[in-house]
Amino acid sequence: MARAKVTVVGAGNVGATCAQVLAARDYADVVLVDIKEGLPQGKALDIAQMGAVLGFEPALVGSNGYDETAGSDVVVVTAGLPRSPGMSRDDLVTTNEKIVKDVTQAVVAASPDAVLVVVSNPLDAMCHVAKNVSGWPKERVFGMAGILDTARFATFIAWETGSSVKDVTATVLGGHGDQMVPVVSATTVGGVPLRKLVPAGRIAAMVERTAKGGGEIVNLLGTSAWYAPGAAAAQMVDAIVLDEKRVLPCTAYLEGEYGIEGLYMGVPVKLGAGGVEQVIELQLGDEERKALEDSAAAVREVVSVLST
Ligand code: LAC
Repeated sequence: MARAKVTVVGAGNVGATCAQVLAARDYADVVLVDIKEGLPQGKALDIAQMGAVLGFEPALVGSNGYDETAGSDVVVVTAGLPRSPGMSRDDLVTTNEKIVKDVTQAVVAASPDAVLVVVSNPLDAMCHVAKNVSGWPKERVFGMAGILDTARFATFIAWETGSSVKDVTATVLGGHGDQMVPVVSATTVGGVPLRKLVPAGRIAAMVERTAKGGGEIVNLLGTSAWYAPGAAAAQMVDAIVLDEKRVLPCTAYLEGEYGIEGLYMGVPVKLGAGGVEQVIELQLGDEERKALEDSAAAVREVVSVLST
């Protein structure tokens, strides 16, 4: 059987990290694409040589065009500008809409049967652009945010409780913005509800830090995070290419689930070879449901400025 083929568009920090994590997993060949001459070629070469040290050897190709991407099974789109300090993700909407539109057209032409994973910000709105431009079914167009936001929440919980992060089960729903919704009612450490382990005030502080978690890193680095975002996108590719049927929080197109109609939002989904194979509906508390509605309203506002 031929190896799977994954394309990562955007050879910046997030794209290159995603390509690196995927290359190390060693189950798929990876094509890294960027408009900047030399960048994807150089990073592909560097990652391939890293393989000689660490012991992985997928074919890695860097390209400024889409010929090499033809017939990809999964395409991860990270292209677009990242945030600078003081910017919200939504400030990027007009610039990144044009970039994601052009990229999607090229991807559709080269890999008409692929699954498209959007990572560019503002994430929820960029998923709408990719879906509208591709015309692909919702199962094959969705976004990465929830795994990253959940990873941040889980990290803070592990620190707070002195537990292994591996034993923290958390979920963050909603849009990938400051109004995202960490679901405290479904959060446990070793099976024990978080609310039994940590006082309400400390939980509220962790929820707040999670919601602003991307901005915290932008303020420290002067640009967006990339290690956790790149790894999170790679985890989605794993679930799709290896048909793992994992339940992961992803940005999926909702048609009535959670009472939300016609909008991309972060929810738990079952991810497998077909892409989003099922949207999982959690039982939310009243406050959480209200927070999800507020988050949906915030996403709708950004989506309304799109021209695609
Ligand atoms: C973040 C960016 C990638 O949350 O959206 O760090």
